[in-house]
Formats: sequence, structure tokens, C-alpha cells
Amino acid sequence: MDNSQSNHKFDLTNYLNVQRDLVNQAIVEIIESNFPNCRLSSAMQYSLMASGKRLRPVLCLAAAETVGTINDDVLMAACAIEMIHTYSLIHDDLPAMDDDKLRRGKPTCHIQYDEATAILAGDALLTLAFEILSDQPSLPENALIRLQVIKTIAGAAGHKGMIEGQMRDIEAETTPASLDELKRIHHLKTGALIEASVMTGALLAGGTTESVKQLGIYGENVGLAFQVIDDILNVEGDAAKMGKATGTDASRNKSTYPGLLGMEKSRRFADELINNALHALNIFGNKAVPLFSLGEYIIKRER
Ligand code: IPE
Ligand code: IPE
Ligand code: MG
Ligand code: MG
Repeated sequence: MDNSQSNHKFDLTNYLNVQRDLVNQAIVEIIESNFPNCRLSSAMQYSLMASGKRLRPVLCLAAAETVGTINDDVLMAACAIEMIHTYSLIHDDLPAMDDDKLRRGKPTCHIQYDEATAILAGDALLTLAFEILSDQPSLPENALIRLQVIKTIAGAAGHKGMIEGQMRDIEAETTPASLDELKRIHHLKTGALIEASVMTGALLAGGTTESVKQLGIYGENVGLAFQVIDDILNVEGDAAKMGKATGTDASRNKSTYPGLLGMEKSRRFADELINNALHALNIFGNKAVPLFSLGEYIIKRER
């Protein structure tokens, strides 16, 4: 498959609906069997079940389908990744971070509950994710792959990944980032977990070293492009569609692609990244149609 070949027959909207339903159903089951009736669980559920796009878990499932099939391990890992992502949003919105009041079309967790509850709900979602990732491993066959997945996700979310990106993002409010540094920030704070989502699906579905490597290249490029578009939408997007406020990057003095490159060059950069991503899918032929289409969606998205 090359980049000029479009996916006429592929219905991405339907694909997204089906895969999101699969993820949402699995998350609801986790909530029903794991969440006691208490304030903490209520806050976790509130943020988790607000209308997120579920892009990371869907990418995880699509990567699994590219190299094999979606098994239970893949689905549980996809849910775990969504929990880590949701925790990151709860903390990102706190007054000490981006101080946002609207998320996923609803008041942010600390507005709906309170700061302490929001911090703890985030902590709890993060740890629950690793509990899920290490639950009922079908030993011994895939124990090593499980460990590799846990290490990949922990690395992407941790102090050399997303957290480091968040730290640098905050620091860049007072010391503006260079273009190289901005690329690093965006890769770390957003790209790394997206890359890990794709790799997780590929690993748990039995992907070969070569296919995991190619899907890693895809994930790295769509991950960075995703944050470039997030910057663009913060300037010219529709807050009602996105379910979060716009114009906030400028008001918080964030270092962003539109701020550094302007709108047109930022779009071109995102296009370039998506082309790199799609190119990395060539070895998979038609198996990669969903990932191909998701790559195209990431630059066209309005929310
Ligand atoms: C928003 O992520 C935060 C970023 C890392 C850019 P999403 O745009 O995927 O947010 P949800 O999950 O749909 O709410
Ligand atoms: C969010 O980045 C990154 C993480 C939550 C790790 P932003 O702060 O740019 O995303 P939004 O615009 O609040 O969703
Ligand atoms: Mg932020
Ligand atoms: Mg933010």
C-alpha cells in the first residue's frame, strides 16, 4: 500500500464506533467488578467515562489486527492505556498544571470533585492500569511479552517519558522552547504513550521484531503529529466540538508549534509526520488499512 492509495472502501467512522464500543464495554466491566461505591471510585469513573475519543486504545487494537488478532490481553492492555491517559488528563488540568475547567465536555475532575480527590483519582487510575496489565498472565507462554509491554508502557508514561514531557512543558512557559526542544516536549508528553499504545497491540498479538519496529515508527510519527494538531486546534478549533477550552496555550504562554512556526508550517509539519507514519505501514499491505486510515484521521480531526 502506498500513500496515494486511499481507502475508498474502508469506513473509518464505523470502525471507530465498533472499536470504541469494545473498549468502553471492557472499561465498564472493569468498573463494575473493581470500583466500590465510594467518592474515589466515583471520581475515577467520572473522568474515565466522559466522552474521550479512545484513540490510544483503538490504535492498540488496530496494531494488533495488523499483525494478528485482538485477544483478551490486547483488550485489557488497551483499557489500561486509556486509564493512564485519563489520569494524565486529570492531573494536566489541575490548577498547578494547566488550570483547566472543562474536559471531555464536562467540568474537570477537580472542579466536579475537589483537588485532593482529583489527584488521588489520577494516582488510582495509574496504579490500576498496572494492576490490569499484570493480572492473570497466561503463563508461561507470554510472560516475557507481558513484561516487555509493562516496561514499554511504564517507560513511555514515566519520568523519562510523559512526566518528563509535562515537566518540560511547564518549564517552557517561562523559558520558551527552541524548535528542537519543542519537538522533544511534544514527543515526550504525548507521542511516547501513543507510540507505546501501538507497540503494545503489536507485541501482545504476537508481532515479529520487524513488524513491532515498523509499527513503532508509525506510532512515533502519529504521536507527534497528534500533539501538533492539538496545538493547532487550541488556536482555531471549536471548543464545543472538542469539549475543552481553546486559546489556553496562548494565555498560559505555552511553547507550541503554531507559536513557533505559524499555522501553515505547523500543518505542513503534521502532514510530513503522517506521511512518514503511513510509509512505515508499507510492509503490512491491506492488513494495515485501519492504521492507515487512523493516521489520515489524526490530521483531519476536529476534536
Ligand atoms: C488530549 O488527548 C491530550 C493530549 C495528549 C493532546 P485526546 O485528544 O486524545 O483526549 P481525549 O481522550 O479524546 O479526551
Ligand atoms: C496534554 O497536553 C499532555 C498530557 C496530558 C500528558 P496538553 O496540555 O497540551 O493537552 P490539552 O490541550 O490540555 O488536552
Ligand atoms: Mg498540558
Ligand atoms: Mg492541558
